[in-house]
Amino acid sequence: MTTRVLVLNGPNLGRLGSREPDVYGSTTFAGLVERCRKTAAGLGLDADVRQTDDEAELVHWLHEAADAGTPVVLNPAAFTHYSYALRDACAQLRAPLVEVHISNPAAREEFRHTSVVAGVATGTVAGFGLGSYDLALRAVADLV
Ligand code: DQA
Repeated sequence: MTTRVLVLNGPNLGRLGSREPDVYGSTTFAGLVERCRKTAAGLGLDADVRQTDDEAELVHWLHEAADAGTPVVLNPAAFTHYSYALRDACAQLRAPLVEVHISNPAAREEFRHTSVVAGVATGTVAGFGLGSYDLALRAVADLV
């Protein structure tokens, strides 16, 4: 049986490919979706990959995951650093939550060193480019 996993992405990640390619690489968001779906399938997971710039929409998707008991891979993007609403939504999840970052926020500006989500995540993967998503999906597959 394949396990469903939600791969949720926050603000500005829809602009992958054109957004600061020196930091985030040249692959588009569509490329990320394809990569995640392929990686997930190889691990026996069915990945539903989504992106929004809207905090409320992201919170609602987390509620959906909480209600359904779905594991989540989450790149909260800039919300990582200040959204208590997102943290509170993450705290309601019952299945594993892997926080993921393309870059390594700890090696960047001071404001990126704080994650308000990390304390309610099962674990965090950061700094491996889009490979961070592969590692996060691997973690989910091992945990479920
Ligand atoms: C990011 C890191 C965040 O600091 C930043 O705001 C993002 C992307 C990453 O994937 O490296 O939008 O989450």
